[in-house]
Amino acid sequence: MTRKTAAPGSAAADQWTAPLAARVNRLAAEIGMLSKTVDLHTNLGGLKLPSPVLVASGTFGFGREYGALLPLSLLGGICTKCVTLEPRAGNRPPRVTETPAGMLNSIGLENPGLDAFLREELPWLRAQGMPVVVNIAGHTIAEYGRLASRLDGHDGISALEVNVSCPNVERGGMTFGVSPRATEAVMKAVRKETSLPLICKLTPNVTEITDLAQAAEQGGADVLSLINTLLGMAIDVETRRPVIGNTFAGLSGPAIRPVAVRMVWQVRKAVKLSLIGLGGITSGRDAMEFILAGASAVAVGSAIFRDPLTPLEVTAGIARYLSRTGLKLKEAVGAAHSG
Ligand SMILES: Cc1cc2nc3c(=O)[nH]c(=O)nc-3n(C[C@H](O)[C@H](O)[C@H](O)COP(=O)(O)O)c2cc1C
Repeated sequence: MTRKTAAPGSAAADQWTAPLAARVNRLAAEIGMLSKTVDLHTNLGGLKLPSPVLVASGTFGFGREYGALLPLSLLGGICTKCVTLEPRAGNRPPRVTETPAGMLNSIGLENPGLDAFLREELPWLRAQGMPVVVNIAGHTIAEYGRLASRLDGHDGISALEVNVSCPNVERGGMTFGVSPRATEAVMKAVRKETSLPLICKLTPNVTEITDLAQAAEQGGADVLSLINTLLGMAIDVETRRPVIGNTFAGLSGPAIRPVAVRMVWQVRKAVKLSLIGLGGITSGRDAMEFILAGASAVAVGSAIFRDPLTPLEVTAGIARYLSRTGLKLKEAVGAAHSG
C-alpha cells in the first residue's frame, strides 16, 4: 500500500497546518507579550540561551522537518540527533513502540555522519537563528576526541552535547556512561580538542547518578544534561517475542519524569555545574519541576511526536508561571531546595 502524503500548499495539507499555524501565532504573540516583563534568557556556565527551552536530541532530527511548522528562533536551542564519525543506519526494526505513559525507542545511532552533517545540515541550522548544540556519539574514546576536534572552530555551533550512552567497544560493549572512569575519560578526551562549551548527557541506568555527575565534572564538562532514556523492553504476548528488533529499548515520556526530577535534585546538590533537565516534559508546569529542582534549562523530547508545538507551549507556560509568581528565572532555579 502506498502512503499518501498531502502536498505542501494543497487543501489537504492546509487542513493540518492551518490550525497549527493559528496556534503558533497565538503562542508566539503570548511569549512576545510576556517577554516584555519576564526575562527568559538563561546562562549555563557560559552557554547563553535566549530561552530555557531546548528540543532534545533525537526527537527533532536536525530541525528541517519542523522548520516549516514553528519559528525555530523561538526555541532556546536545538540539540541535534547524534552525530557519529561515519554514517550509521541504526538498529533493525521495529524500533519504536508506545507504552502506557511514553514510548520505547531503539533507533540506535542512525545519522548521516560527520561529513554530511557539516556539509548539509550545519549551514541550514546556522541560518535559523537559534543556538545549535551538536550531540556526539562514539564507540571509542578516540572517536569522541576526533568528533570534538572536527567540530571545533565551525561557526554556528554553540556547544557539544556528549552522549555517553553508547557501547564502549574497547571494553566489551559496556556503556561509557555507567562507569565514572569511562565518563571522565571521554570528557577529558573531548575537552582536550575543543574550547566549545561541553555538555555531558547522563544516563539514568546507574545506581548513583551523583558519581557520574562528579566524574563528568572532573573530566571538564561545563554543563550536565539529564536524563537520557531508561532501559526497558516490551514483549508481544501473541508472538511471544520481544516487540523491539534490538530486544531492549529506551523508555521516555511522562513515565520517567519523576525519576528525572529526582536525579536533577540529587545532581544539583552534588556538583557546581549548570544543569539541563529533561524526561517526560509536556507542559510549563512539568518544566518548572525541573527548574525548581535545580535545572537552568529544560529540553522537550518525546512530547514533540504527539504535538510539535510542545516546546512553545512549555515556553509560554514557564513565562506565565514566572509572571504569576513574580519570580525571576534565576531565582526559581533550585528554589525547591531552600527552606
Ligand atoms: C526517538 C528518540 C531518539 C533519541 N535519540 C537520542 C540521541 O541521538 N542522543 C541522545 O543523547 N539522546 C537521544 N534520545 C533521548 C532524548 O534526547 C531524551 O533524553 C529522552 O527521550 C528523555 O526525554 P523525553 O522523555 O522528553 O523524551 C532519544 C530519544 C528518543 C525518544
